[in-house]
Amino acid sequence: MDIRINSRIEGDINGTDARQAWQDEHLSEETLAVLEQDSKLFLHQSMSTPCLNAIVNAEGIYLEDQDGRKVIDFHGNSVHQVGYKNEYVMNAIIAQMQQLPFLPRRYTSKIAIQLAQKLIELAPGDLNKVLFAPGGTSAIGIALKLARRATGKHKMISTWDSFHGASLDAISVGGESVFRSGIGPLMSGTEHMMPYNSYRSIFGEGEAANAKNLDYLAYMLEREEDVCAVILEPIRSTDVQIPSVAYMQRLRQICDDYGVLLILDEIPTALGRTGTMFVHEHYGIVPDIVVIGKGFGGGIFPMAGIIAREHLDIAGDISLGHYTHEKSAVGCAAALATIAYIEQENLLEHAKNMERWLLVHLQELQRKYAVIGDVRVKGMLAAIELVSNRETKEKEAAGAEKVLYECLSRGLSFKVSSGNVITLVPPLITTAEQMEEAIAILDQALEQVFTK
Ligand SMILES: Cc1ncc(COP(=O)(O)O)c(C=O)c1O
Repeated sequence: MDIRINSRIEGDINGTDARQAWQDEHLSEETLAVLEQDSKLFLHQSMSTPCLNAIVNAEGIYLEDQDGRKVIDFHGNSVHQVGYKNEYVMNAIIAQMQQLPFLPRRYTSKIAIQLAQKLIELAPGDLNKVLFAPGGTSAIGIALKLARRATGKHKMISTWDSFHGASLDAISVGGESVFRSGIGPLMSGTEHMMPYNSYRSIFGEGEAANAKNLDYLAYMLEREEDVCAVILEPIRSTDVQIPSVAYMQRLRQICDDYGVLLILDEIPTALGRTGTMFVHEHYGIVPDIVVIGKGFGGGIFPMAGIIAREHLDIAGDISLGHYTHEKSAVGCAAALATIAYIEQENLLEHAKNMERWLLVHLQELQRKYAVIGDVRVKGMLAAIELVSNRETKEKEAAGAEKVLYECLSRGLSFKVSSGNVITLVPPLITTAEQMEEAIAILDQALEQVFTK
């Protein structure tokens, strides 16, 4: 067993033989030349380079490459809830650019106020104060600073295997080695607990292990007096781990008992992905700070932010964000239009219906292929976990990669997470017919890889 593959979290499969073989078979000389230029000009980094392909268009649920091939994009970096080139969002952006393209610091504008008002109406409880940022990582940084300042404490507890962004503060609370390794000292005062349903948890399996994990959190908090916050993704988006209601409610209770803030990172999952505007709505809890981003900007504009409880508005004398594009007028127009589109088109309802549809169809695949060890779905976020043995849950990483390339050849793109998890992140505008087409492609690919 390759221990590194088995412990692979995000997994970098950009330099494998399977990738090379797919490119050799499918890409034209012209496209290969563009990839070579990209490789020459851009700094190389894990997971982003070398690039897979060169695209020329993104529209609706599709990407189109420069050789004219169209693929259904069920990855989209989790930005495409309302689909690519959403006309309603594009028109709002264009109108805003013509009216007021930039909002300099010290000024405000009705468009920013309308967005803040809308978020506050949507968010439960006293989540009544907002701050925007040009990206998720920056918004996480704001949340961490606010938690320190509001509590006068500096330690954070987060989870192993988590991702909260790529800057030094974010990787310090993050838990993935590909981000934390070889970079020198990280921010001090960060401690990690196990994530929900940790792979091969030292606490055992299932809900009993998850409960012990929370016991351990309480154990840590009993001993550490300087903890300001616990930060985690309520539903981990990459491999789709969906905690039980009991787990999340007890987590909230533990934070209350020990006087630490609960920061929920909903950057890839808020705004409809799971069938509700915010993920914590599924759990009947109110976080102290919720962080949003990704699809907030309608798949066009970089836009993120935090929504905090009213009593946390205590840092007026320091700069929490101070980003040049901290209150982007165009970003606000994009976000407002995105939320309006989700509401007008009943996309939350659609996501809930598609959850049932996906469960039925993916469980059908699970009955057909022994390699599918688990299926997890929440709204329009789904994970299909491939294992070489259902008992031991040994990861079927090589097979997962083969399925990816078979699907790409047939017209479906997605991400492989944790080495062996096929993660499907369809735009919320995906119809049942389009979903059927995508699942049929997946079925054909699984058959090709595991039964031929
Ligand atoms: C859970 C989570 N948090 C934070 C981030 C960082 O967001 P951004 O890439 O916009 O900085 C991401 C991005 O993938 C994410 O998935």
